[in-house]
Parts: sequence; C-alpha cells; structure tokens
Amino acid sequence: NWSPKGLMEEQIEKIREEVGDDQVICGLSGGVDSAVAATLVHKAVGDQLTCVFVNHGLLREGEVEQVQHDFVQATGIKLKTVDASEEFVSALKGVTEPEAKRKIIGDLFIKTFEKAASQIVAEVGEKGAKVKWLVQGTLYPDVVESGGGSGTAVIKSHHNVGGLPENLEFKLIEPLRSLFKDEVRQIGTHLGLPDYMVWRQPFPGPGLAIRIVGEVTQDRLNLLRRADAIAREEMTKAGLDRKIWQCPVVLLANVHSVGVQGDERTYGNPIVIRPIESSDAMTADWFHMPYDVLTAISNRITNECRGINRVVYDVTSKPPATIEWE
Ligand code: XMP
Repeated sequence: NWSPKGLMEEQIEKIREEVGDDQVICGLSGGVDSAVAATLVHKAVGDQLTCVFVNHGLLREGEVEQVQHDFVQATGIKLKTVDASEEFVSALKGVTEPEAKRKIIGDLFIKTFEKAASQIVAEVGEKGAKVKWLVQGTLYPDVVESGGGSGTAVIKSHHNVGGLPENLEFKLIEPLRSLFKDEVRQIGTHLGLPDYMVWRQPFPGPGLAIRIVGEVTQDRLNLLRRADAIAREEMTKAGLDRKIWQCPVVLLANVHSVGVQGDERTYGNPIVIRPIESSDAMTADWFHMPYDVLTAISNRITNECRGINRVVYDVTSKPPATIEWE
C-alpha cells in the first residue's frame, strides 16, 4: 500500500541509518526531482548535506533565481553555486548534432560538478569529516530510457543517469529510483515544498541547448529564453499549467522563412510550440491548446522577439516523435 507519507518516512529513516555521521553532496538542477531528493536527505541528515548548483546558462528565465533564493529559503539547505554559463556556450560553439551537444554538456557538467565537489570534500576534510555520499534525483522512467532498466535500448543519452564522478568514489543515494513523477510530486507536497516547485514541468538536463535546432549561441539562447517565457506566461494565465505535462518551445535556428512586419520584408526563424499530455514521458499525446491561447502566444512572440516571424504548432504524438526535438 503506497502512500507518500509512508515512503517518505521509510526513506528518511533508511538514509539516516546508512549515512550515519558522513557528509553528503547533492546536485540541484532546478527541477522537482533533485529538489525533492535533496529535501528528503536534508530531513534525514540536516547540515551534513551540501547542495551544488551548476548554472550551465541553458536554463529558462527566472530559474537560476528560483534555485539560489527561493529553494534555499524554503528548505534552509546549504548551497554552493557555480556559474559556468560562459564555459558551456563556448564549448558548444559550432556544434549542431543533438547527441554531440548532449555529450559536451554532460561531460562539462560532470567536470564542473566534480571540481565543486572536490572543494567541498577538501573543506569538510579540514574539519575532520568525510564526504561519502552523492544524492541523485533519478526516477524510474530515467532508469528505463537510459537503458538501465529491463534491457531497453538507449534512445537518447540522458546526462543525469550514470554520469557519476567515478574518481571521487561516492556511494549513491537515489531515493526516487522506483517512482514516477506524480509520486515524486506527492512527496514534494508532503515535504512542504512550495507548489510552483512541486508542479514545475519537466525540463531536460541539457536545457535550452537541445531546443535550438542548429548551433547554440548566446543571442539565440536569449531569444529562445524570451519566447519560452512568453509562452509559459500565457499558458499560466489560461490556467493550463497542470493540464499540460510540459511544453517545449523550440527555435529552428537553421530554418528561415519570408515574412512581412510593418512595411518590411523579413527573413526570420520559426518558433515551435510543442505542448503535450503525458503521465510518464515514455509516451505522449499532443495537447489540444485553445485557439485563443495559441493566438496570444503567436502575437506576443512575433511582436516581442525580434527575428522570429513565424510560430508553428507541433501536432505529433510520441511515438513517432520524441517530446524534445533533439
Ligand atoms: P524525449 O525527447 O526523449 O523526452 O521524448 C522524454 C523526457 O525526457 C526529457 N529529456 C531529458 N531529460 N536529460 C534529461 O534530464 C536529457 O538529456 C533529456 N532529453 C529529454 C524530456 O524533456 C522529456 O520530459
């Protein structure tokens, strides 16, 4: 008989017993999974936990502030932030192939995380303590889609599974490994995390980089970030946040089409809106967005995002398409 409260208490007890007096590190991504995993561990071992947030510069508008201020305020967790956004953008220069982007981001992420973790290990070591544990917010569908489940083929390499800093020799704490997203959300609510955090829609680890079809540049990231924020604002205003599982907003940077804005001919890029319904991201249906919301999104994006002269609506389910475009 599954209950969020039961599982929560069971996990907290188990973590407390396993960890003992050791120190624990947890990487935060800005998403609900790592936030819930960290909060569970914090409930179990308090200040023995230090969280690390690598800002890779590929997050959406407002998300860095949410992790750095709101999450810390809600939980009281110790947080170390590393701003590596410039390094990530320069590492992605000239790269267009989706799996190459994932590999570069995954590798640099691990490198950056390792460096921060080593610093924490050194700092607590000076006080005579020992860091032995690493928390990961891995869910059941992550395990399956990355080939770690029942022998399934790797569909896309998800950088949040298996990418562990081996030479640091951590033992793993994965309290959400058997759970689906809706169960994680129930636990998050029981832990007292704020609604906007618990109900945050899934967002891929490689972030906006895999939502720019073509090369990732700082200008394109800024453009997509604004378009994505506009789409999210309109969906929230229309009360659609909990009806939509997630809504990738994708910049087709290497496609151009002709438009007319004012008296001028334009030759700009399209933005794709891809809202979907799902219960676990393994399959998905495209979401039937009310026309007035689509109109508002389209009008605002073409008016406010210079260089975007067309907004298109993705009406493909998964399968045959994946949720993300890359
Ligand atoms: P796809 O595109 O494979 O996405 O249908 C399934 C779910 O996974 C998310 N996604 C990722 N998450 N690292 C992640 O942490 C990744 O590399 C990655 N690629 C896709 C996607 O947003 C959807 O929720």
